[in-house]
Amino acid sequence: MNDFIYYNPDKIYFGKNALDSLGAELKKYGKKVLLVYGGGSIKKNGLYDEVVKAVKEGGLKLFELSGVEPNPRHTTANEGARICKANKVDVVLAVGGGSTIDCAKGVAAAAVAKKGDIWEIVKSGAPVEKALPVIAVLTNAATGSEMDEWAVISNMETNEKIGIGGEGIIPRAAFENPEYSFTLPAYQTACGAFDIFNHVLDNYYLAGEATFDLILEFQEAVMRAVVKWAPVAIKEPENYEARANLMWASSMALNHVLDAGTLHDCACHAMEHELSAYYDITHGHGLAIVAPRWLTYILNDKTAPQIYRLGVKVFGLKEGMEVFAGAKTAIEALETFCFETLGLKKNLSDLKIDETHFKAMAEHACGGGTINGPKTLTPEDVEEIYKMCL
Ligand code: NZQ
Ligand code: ZN
Repeated sequence: MNDFIYYNPDKIYFGKNALDSLGAELKKYGKKVLLVYGGGSIKKNGLYDEVVKAVKEGGLKLFELSGVEPNPRHTTANEGARICKANKVDVVLAVGGGSTIDCAKGVAAAAVAKKGDIWEIVKSGAPVEKALPVIAVLTNAATGSEMDEWAVISNMETNEKIGIGGEGIIPRAAFENPEYSFTLPAYQTACGAFDIFNHVLDNYYLAGEATFDLILEFQEAVMRAVVKWAPVAIKEPENYEARANLMWASSMALNHVLDAGTLHDCACHAMEHELSAYYDITHGHGLAIVAPRWLTYILNDKTAPQIYRLGVKVFGLKEGMEVFAGAKTAIEALETFCFETLGLKKNLSDLKIDETHFKAMAEHACGGGTINGPKTLTPEDVEEIYKMCL
């Protein structure tokens, strides 16, 4: 069992009345609020009006940054930083999914930097210690951004999608009312669900024998919850129980409860971020295509027992099979979940992606070295996995 330090100051307001406390929470940080949101889903479902009412009732002054893109761009974060600097904004309020929350974190970090340029911060690779306070209202159960220290920012001019991280951008509070996700289309529900699943899977294997039992059981419980509730949410978008389970699973999957003592070097995520950087695809869909191929590629005598365990604990396979056969059946169960239950397309070619950039993507995914994990991946390995996804 490895040592770890656990720290998470994010205060969660969960449930139907969560937003009642928004005004009071914002007021703790000042008087001027920048509201950050995406392409308009919150206007269609009425959440925008509720948030504006809460902000105004709190006597706070409101500024807005709208139009945050899925795979949020550095240029949008810079525009938000400019608004913050020009108006001496005190607190950044994200209302949306992971892209909106990540962009708000980028805004908050750039707003206190001299040049106000998020890309300079991203490229420095330094931990983000200082930022304006970020508050999140979550509308999509997926990334965990509402409760973690990461933000992933894209520069489409250079085909780069890179994460920043640090205590400065952990949200001070997050508001999670599962009803806000009722309007999510089935495709986004499926992609979000698989993102949650994969945050756990990427860590599930990493510490190997050093992962202690309680962590494995936590991880399996969250993956089981996704397998159980995602299909319900897809069929019945307004099923509160399903949305609530997915929303809390989203927050738990990446807030470090589930990776305490693991090694945290996310193989599928490293490979997927290249796909969205080059082709602007939906993150969770890219992960669903990559993950079963990754497991197939890393299957060997060392990994087979744990892949089989995934099948037993998460997909309900029977115990007592020959381990290698059990591991293969577990991978088939994962494929059935991704491509039949969630209904996601199976191949990169279905998303009009071919081999053109695989070499460059593989090298960048490995960051000049290798990807750590149950099997260390070189750029050549990653290129092979991309080819298996075609
Ligand atoms: O932009 P709007 O109009 O709001 O529409 C969004 C968007 O089109 C829509 N949506 C969100 N909530 C909705 C809704 N539509 C109807 N009703 C609702 N309640 O869904 C679409 C996708 O939204 P987006 O925020 O892009 O999705 P997601 O939450 O999956 O975020 C993905 C981004 O987060 C990054 C990903 O790489 C990607 O850029 N990640 C962030 C992480 C983090 N900060 O820790 C970790 C993740 O691994 C991930 O990399
Ligand atoms: Zn993810």
